[in-house]
Amino acid sequence: MNILVTGGAGFIGANHVRWLLGRTEDRVINLDLLTYAGNLENLAGFEDNPRYRFVHGDIGDAALVARVLAEERIEAVINFAAESHVDRSLDAPRLFIETNVLGTQTLLAAASAARVARFLQVSTDEVYGSLGATGTFAEESPLAPNSPYAASKAAADLVCRAYGHTFGLPVLITRCSNNYGPFQFPEKLIPLMIANALEGKPLPVYGDGLHVRDWLFVEDHCTAIDAVLRRGRPGQTYNIGGGNEWPNIEIVRLLLRLLDRPESLITFVPDRPGHDRRYAIDAAKIRRELGWAPAHDFAQGVSATVDWYRDNRSWWERIRSGAYRAYYERMYGAGGRYGGR
Ligand code: NAD
Ligand code: DAU
Repeated sequence: MNILVTGGAGFIGANHVRWLLGRTEDRVINLDLLTYAGNLENLAGFEDNPRYRFVHGDIGDAALVARVLAEERIEAVINFAAESHVDRSLDAPRLFIETNVLGTQTLLAAASAARVARFLQVSTDEVYGSLGATGTFAEESPLAPNSPYAASKAAADLVCRAYGHTFGLPVLITRCSNNYGPFQFPEKLIPLMIANALEGKPLPVYGDGLHVRDWLFVEDHCTAIDAVLRRGRPGQTYNIGGGNEWPNIEIVRLLLRLLDRPESLITFVPDRPGHDRRYAIDAAKIRRELGWAPAHDFAQGVSATVDWYRDNRSWWERIRSGAYRAYYERMYGAGGRYGGR
């Protein structure tokens, strides 16, 4: 199958591109704008793979998207491309609407015109809003997004629904809980805390630290997306989660134990405005219909993740210093290894 993966230079997208190239025979075209979150170092070594092509560009560029779909005879689109960080959405809400809503609509229109056989929208459990102490989000739960990020993802889901209903595009939506694992940008909770702990810096915990997230190892998200892409029913939404709820402060303590660093590094800071208290996913539908289940337990996944960040210190140090941005120029810029491609 010829698959267009958007946002493949980001955290989950890069893990998914690596997974597809390693586990399937599919051809993978990665369309990524390389925003601050896009890092081609996440795919270093794959440049020469004949089943892989990188295209630098915006999902909101209709002409470019149409050209790539036609040129590569794309059969399936997986849309990871997004502005993904809640805190950033508080400072720049409009960018989130532009990328996540208008960008997705541009992709949908092009995919519809090109009669693509599958369009998978990678969404999030944040579209459902916040839970109290009990209960879980099911696919039928009302949409009640609270942050500009969550609102932009919910809006994109509804535009996807409309393209399926009105234009017959075979759209599938996945809504996953919090991911963790290799290549996650060190602005998100787990990699930020690991990097700060390794550098002996304070670990900033928002509010009382008792907000709960439902954590899933990124490769389990990839296997779920793949199952939905190949075997999901068009027009359907599938929740993805591992039933693995943790209060933030417990995650932070666990990381400090694994890294053998003192709890005195923990610093409580003012809460995130509008901070959702608790997320928990009911993933019964994808288990029942597609037989998907996570393969990694949390103890194993988190310890592998800590090892990865310890072993790949230069990866996150280059991000924190900004040096990672030079990679694209070195590889793809004029005079670079793949310059002019
Ligand atoms: P990320 O921020 O690490 O990566 C996003 C990627 O999209 C980057 O490579 C960036 O360059 C690219 N991008 C941004 N704007 C673009 C545009 N206009 N055109 C082309 N590319 C563009 O994000 P992530 O954490 O890997 O999340 C990927 C997707 O999964 C997002 O849609 C997010 O909403 C969703 N999601 C994330 C999580 C999570 O825990 N991280 C959980 C559920 C769903
Ligand atoms: O639930 C899925 C979502 O998970 C995805 O849709 C988003 O793209 C992804 O960013 C993530 O959103 P969260 O807001 O849950 O993730 P974040 O890593 O930013 O924060 C996790 C929790 O940790 C949250 O309760 C806020 C808290 N936190 C975060 C940071 C960065 C802190 O206490 N301190 C911090 O410095």
